[in-house]
Amino acid sequence: MGEAIEVRNLWYIYPNGVVALKGINLEIRLGEKVAIVGPNGAGKSTLIKHFNGLLKPTKGVVRVFGVDTRKTTVATLARRIGIVFQNPYHQFFSEKVWDEVAFALKNFGFPEETIRHRVTKVLRLFDLYDYADRSPFTLSSGEMRRLAMASILAYDPDIIVFDEPTVGQDRFHKEKIREYIKLLSSQGKTIILVTHDIDFVVEEFDRLIVMSEGRIIADGAPREILYNEEILTKASLILPQIPRLVKYSEIPFLLKHKPLTEDELLIAVLGILRGDGGRC
Ligand SMILES: Nc1ncnc2c1ncn2[C@@H]1O[C@H](COP(=O)(O)OP(=O)(O)OP(=O)(O)O)[C@@H](O)[C@H]1O
Ligand SMILES: [Mg+2]
Repeated sequence: MGEAIEVRNLWYIYPNGVVALKGINLEIRLGEKVAIVGPNGAGKSTLIKHFNGLLKPTKGVVRVFGVDTRKTTVATLARRIGIVFQNPYHQFFSEKVWDEVAFALKNFGFPEETIRHRVTKVLRLFDLYDYADRSPFTLSSGEMRRLAMASILAYDPDIIVFDEPTVGQDRFHKEKIREYIKLLSSQGKTIILVTHDIDFVVEEFDRLIVMSEGRIIADGAPREILYNEEILTKASLILPQIPRLVKYSEIPFLLKHKPLTEDELLIAVLGILRGDGGRC
């Protein structure tokens, strides 16, 4: 696997003086599935906006597929890295939902037939096909987020960044989005997910990056991070059910095994009952 994204000593200061990123170092490899978590204002969205060159470093370097984002255009980067933003409202500019999705495909020079096929496919996938002729601005906020997702996925970039995709989605669509992210990952796409949905992270992601006050305070396996008291407090993370249960049980054996899912907890408990130190 090659390097998809490389961030070296990245600092970002907004024009109003807010220091949003304070020396970020990060490497994301091709095909990796990475979750970024942290409290409001930690700098998560600011960080990912550097990945397609929308924001340029105040100091430090960001390279995407080896290219310095300061030395290329957002349009060039966008072909290989698609970002589904947290607040898509400000991104829409087409009069119709259909045109919004077709826009990037046209720009990238896809043939007319392919465009028709792809737009139809993603609009159906995200339950937006019936709204094809409506203005994006008449959609509900949940539908708008799905439209933003459809617009990116239609042109099939190699890296896909999702900023809080499941917020504001009903249960049906939340599950659908989660399934779709799994599918993309199984196809070898590089997935970067900014989220507060720790349960999904625990089930699906083997790398978790925790941000707080413009810094990365942890980067590693969810199992280690979610059982680290200091990190949890610093990042004010809401613990998923199983680690919470284990923590309050104060059973040393369970604490040592760090189960994350119901299955892992069951195996550990059976281990206690059998007295063989059950493995997760
Ligand atoms: N356009 C802006 N101008 C000035 N300051 C900004 C701007 N956008 C964000 N900030 C500030 O930068 C810091 C990081 O914001 P950012 O949006 O990256 O946080 P976040 O981790 O994505 O938070 P959330 O979980 O609420 O989405 C915050 O202090 C925020 O107030
Ligand atoms: Mg954000």
